[in-house]
Amino acid sequence: MKPSLRVALVGCGKITERLALPQLRRCPGAEVTALVDIRRSTANAIADKFGIARKRIWTDWRQMLREADVDVVAVNVPNALHAEIAVAALRVSKHVIVEKPIATTLADADAMIAAARAHRRWLMVDQTQRFDPIHETAYEMLQRRSLGRITQVRGRIGHAGPQYWAGTTRTWLTDHRRSGGGALMDVGIHIADLLRWLSGKQVKRICCQAMKRSKRMTVEESASALLEFTDGTSGSFEASWMTRPYEVTTAFYGERGTLRTAIGSAHPVAVQWCRQGDPNHQRGPTRYPRVPSSSRWGGAYPYFMGCIAKGRRPFISGEEARASLEVILAAYESARTREWVDMPLRAGH
Ligand SMILES: NC(=O)c1ccc[n+]([C@@H]2O[C@H](COP(=O)([O-])OP(=O)(O)OC[C@H]3O[C@@H](n4cnc5c(N)ncnc54)[C@H](O)[C@@H]3O)[C@@H](O)[C@H]2O)c1
Repeated sequence: MKPSLRVALVGCGKITERLALPQLRRCPGAEVTALVDIRRSTANAIADKFGIARKRIWTDWRQMLREADVDVVAVNVPNALHAEIAVAALRVSKHVIVEKPIATTLADADAMIAAARAHRRWLMVDQTQRFDPIHETAYEMLQRRSLGRITQVRGRIGHAGPQYWAGTTRTWLTDHRRSGGGALMDVGIHIADLLRWLSGKQVKRICCQAMKRSKRMTVEESASALLEFTDGTSGSFEASWMTRPYEVTTAFYGERGTLRTAIGSAHPVAVQWCRQGDPNHQRGPTRYPRVPSSSRWGGAYPYFMGCIAKGRRPFISGEEARASLEVILAAYESARTREWVDMPLRAGH
């Protein structure tokens, strides 16, 4: 039987190997009909590992778009290349799933969003943290609004840097032209996106400090940001390439208690309630909601395939991911000017 969705993966690096292909294996209605990488040896290794015929390999994505039978293009290449490939794919009426961050500039993100609209195709950005069952559970809890009004939010994300993810420090991640930035662009985009999504709030302005420890490094290795949201909520986040082991934590402070998440913790979601009716808001019971072992959607790829099959707009649309990118670009501007930066950002970002 012909599979309903034929998928091309552009970029056969780590994210394709560790996330995209394992997830696509679990999508009965999807088949990988094209693999593209400028390095044929990389594509060959991935094809062999996942049992994909080598005749399905291209080394030029433009040629692949002309020749291959595909419905969906996954853009899994260095950040600065996302927009060009995504726009070209949308223009020939492919649905596109693109890795985070959507792009490295707002102009590029806008071009992607416009192409998706003009050609009536879905554009989704793989903000993977939204598919972590810990964050899915926190989202459901926060949607119930039982903590009352949330007045402060906080987040932290960190790992040991390029060495942790890429196995080397000599990677495009530390080349500003290809990555668009360091820890802020690489992992800060996750925490900015999580705080926006989980709180349902929009950032009004931001103040940020970015730090480089090593003189040889051309991009920041850590950043700390203060946030003000449009409803007056205050917040903060840190993004780090100097954290061992990997950490993703969030906190949402409400009128009746606090919800915390922590990847890797024995209690990854905890809700600390205040004692009911106590004017001093003393510590009440702590509840630990059950966290399923996997995403309710099975991850970004099964979710996106479902969106296409059902004609459902993905919840991490181009517009959503652009809003998170805007927070990161505002953080860079603040780090550069050493001033608070208001949103929306002026044209030119
Ligand atoms: N969602 C997440 O948590 C997460 C984690 C890591 C990386 N990512 C994102 O995934 C994307 C890729 O990262 P990675 O870690 O897989 O990088 P990687 O360096 O391991 O892989 C990138 C691949 O793209 C290939 N490539 C480069 N230019 C190309 C071109 N013009 N055409 C075709 N192939 C090309 C390279 O040869 C390489 O094999 C980045 O946008 C990154 O931010 C997301």
